[in-house]
Amino acid sequence: DVTLIYAVLIGYLCGSVPFGLFLTRAAGLGDIRNIGSGNIGATNVLRTGNRWLAAATLVLDAGKAALPVLVARYYWGEQAAMLAAIGAFLGHCFPVWLGLKGGKGVAVMIGSLLALSWPVGLIFCGVWLLIAFAQKMSSLAALTAAATAPIFAYVVVNEWLAAATAVMALLLFVQHRENIGRLMRGTEARIGSEKKAP
Ligand code: G3P
Repeated sequence: DVTLIYAVLIGYLCGSVPFGLFLTRAAGLGDIRNIGSGNIGATNVLRTGNRWLAAATLVLDAGKAALPVLVARYYWGEQAAMLAAIGAFLGHCFPVWLGLKGGKGVAVMIGSLLALSWPVGLIFCGVWLLIAFAQKMSSLAALTAAATAPIFAYVVVNEWLAAATAVMALLLFVQHRENIGRLMRGTEARIGSEKKAP
């Protein structure tokens, strides 16, 4: 079905807009890829010291995933909506415009899940907040939320959302491979700290 390909493509195009990069540049803070972890996501934008910019990155990165999901669902149905979510995830993590070097997928996963099933999206945010407050590590919070999301998706919605969520969670783990290494060595940066340990 060609509409499913459209859904992935629209998702990819929206997802590949690097808001973190644009906002930090527009604010005169330089290239976010040369700051902190070098990631283009909200956590790293926070390392510039500008909370509002980090919040805007989070909202816009979530929004750029939610939008194609809602559009795909409206025109082509639930299956297309899930494929649009995966497309947005791929676009954010592997944008052609940035030589395929994009973000780690946390905000886009939040946006996609809120649009696909808001209770599953809220649970994801809840798990993230719980771990973030307890451990003060953004990456660990994201990895825990992603790892548990397919289970909640299965229980709350169905096996299709569980499968789509599992694909995103797997990619999120791949994108966090450097963070996972630092977590295992005990050198991962805490939220609020400016510098990232090597
Ligand atoms: O949002 C990505 C987060 O989980 C980790 O980001 O910059 O600490 O590698 P960062």
